[in-house]
Amino acid sequence: MIAPDRPRRSALYMPASNARAIEKARTLPADVIILDLEDAVAPEAKADARAAAVAAVKAGGFGTREVAIRANGLDTEWGADDLAAIAASGADAVLVPKVSSPADIEACEGALRSAPASMQLWAMIETCSVVGQLGAVAATARNTRLSLWIMGVNDLAKEMRAKLTAERTPFLPALTLAVCAARAHGIAVLDGVCNEFRDLDVFRKEAEQGLLYGFDGKSLIHPDQIAPCNEVFSPSEAELAQACAIIAAFALPENAGKGAIRVDGKMAELLHLDQAKRLVAISEQIAGFS
Ligand code: COA
Ligand code: MG
Repeated sequence: MIAPDRPRRSALYMPASNARAIEKARTLPADVIILDLEDAVAPEAKADARAAAVAAVKAGGFGTREVAIRANGLDTEWGADDLAAIAASGADAVLVPKVSSPADIEACEGALRSAPASMQLWAMIETCSVVGQLGAVAATARNTRLSLWIMGVNDLAKEMRAKLTAERTPFLPALTLAVCAARAHGIAVLDGVCNEFRDLDVFRKEAEQGLLYGFDGKSLIHPDQIAPCNEVFSPSEAELAQACAIIAAFALPENAGKGAIRVDGKMAELLHLDQAKRLVAISEQIAGFS
């Protein structure tokens, strides 16, 4: 595992060809910035976007935000050049699209041989063929840079020919399978984008659904989505207070060596102590971001 368990509540995409968006990104409160070379960039703008993304990362100014560059697939005419440029860019991560098999991860790993050891490999989960082999793809994290997945629900809808409604019913099985496979192999996992960037009520419901399903955060397309997203994926005051109570209770001398105790009228086991410690650690990191 090369990625620390850090907050990734909000991950904002922007076309790397959009200089204004990149400039704004340096001050926006998103935990992750994704400079896109793929779907958001037209074929004739690919080379310029690649150069702009690398220049933006080299110029820095992103503070505590993690910065990723989304490459075109290795099966496209731009993919190999993208990975070579990103490997030398100093970005925190390269995000690769349409990963469909363990072999795809291994091919990207090979293309990143010259990148610094700290550079992470992130993968888009957005094809029909990957859904049946999520466990095998996740297992490659053991000996590759793979550390995070992002759901690509728009592409999945296109391939499945399913309808992307507000409830996202056709996609819920794939979301659950992806979360389970990611967790089984220590991979962080972010939910897909909500295209409704003008209706923040719709957005908030979808973000809450992502939280319910276990995602660490959500990928975003517009700055207006950042604040509600951070709010949904931050531990609440009540959750924090409960976590502190569990940690304090297990630390009492009379509870030493116990596996299950009573805290505020409810059972707390050592697994709840682990959850409480993780929640407090994430909250402390979030506090350090602002
Ligand atoms: N990142 C950073 N800044 C963004 C942004 C983004 N994703 N989307 C919009 N902005 C900025 C605009 O530059 C504008 O800034 P300004 O008014 O200070 O100059 C401001 O936010 C308001 O933008 P707005 O007019 O509301 O949006 P729009 O209609 O111009 O653009 C989209 C709408 C969807 C085209 C645009 O938000 C976008 O390109 N999103 C990302 C798409 C993407 O990367 N897709 C790939 C992954 S799915
Ligand atoms: Mg896609």
